[in-house]
Amino acid sequence: MTIEVALHRPTITLKLATSLDARIATVTGASKWITGPQSRAEVHRMRAAHDAVLTGIGTVLADDPELTARLEPMPARQPWRVVLDRQGRLPLDSKLIQTTDRAGLIWCTASEVAAVAPGGGRPIHHHRVGASKAGPKGLDLHEVLRLLTDTYDIKTLMVEAGPILATAFLRAGLVDQIAWFRAPLLLGGDGRSVFDSLDVEELSQAWVLHQTDHIRFGRDVLDRFDVSPT
Ligand SMILES: NC(=O)c1ccc[n+]([C@@H]2O[C@H](COP(=O)([O-])OP(=O)(O)OC[C@H]3O[C@@H](n4cnc5c(N)ncnc54)[C@H](OP(=O)(O)O)[C@@H]3O)[C@@H](O)[C@H]2O)c1
Repeated sequence: MTIEVALHRPTITLKLATSLDARIATVTGASKWITGPQSRAEVHRMRAAHDAVLTGIGTVLADDPELTARLEPMPARQPWRVVLDRQGRLPLDSKLIQTTDRAGLIWCTASEVAAVAPGGGRPIHHHRVGASKAGPKGLDLHEVLRLLTDTYDIKTLMVEAGPILATAFLRAGLVDQIAWFRAPLLLGGDGRSVFDSLDVEELSQAWVLHQTDHIRFGRDVLDRFDVSPT
């Protein structure tokens, strides 16, 4: 039985791109580009291979990503883009809103938002979702995943988010695989870590990953892991 049938949610891959010491940004927040062009091209192939790509509003406000699969030739089908934005802060001039002609946008907030005319011309799929009952403030991830399964038939989801949402997915036991690009750079302990606290006090509480692949992309490596629930 597949994960999506057994758990009534998509199969979830968490994509990370970091320095060798697991930093996503320097102490001043500089983050573009840690990994090289070959890795970034592979990320576009990965987006094209998933039904949807999900991010948090923190990443949108920091990077203004388009989250489309930009390949040559362009893929016949683009993934849905999903943004989790409890407070409805998605900027009207963001690339996500301005490119709805290229790929669908699912905008999840905790409250109603004013009607937005998308720059790309196609409607934005806005949904109200309940607040998370556990962990940091945010939307209820289980409700989001039910919505993606029931309303959009999304079976494969790639999470491309910053440390806050990446940690929330992991801690909720909602990550099946990690695809981790690492560049041979050291940013030091004052750079921003790829994860926030995982509340690991004893080594016996550490998350155990099972490596399934190791591929070079230029100077970077991509390691793939299966994640076991602890
Ligand atoms: N290297 C990489 O792989 C990679 C990938 C993506 C981003 N980044 C970097 O990550 C940084 C942004 O990261 P970030 O951690 O600040 O932002 P984030 O993880 O992208 O988004 C976090 C926000 O999502 C919202 N959210 C909604 N539901 C949530 C839930 N259940 N749990 C947690 N958050 C939820 C919260 O804002 P509300 O409460 O307002 O909704 C939260 O503050 C940027 O510097 C970006 O460049 C790196």
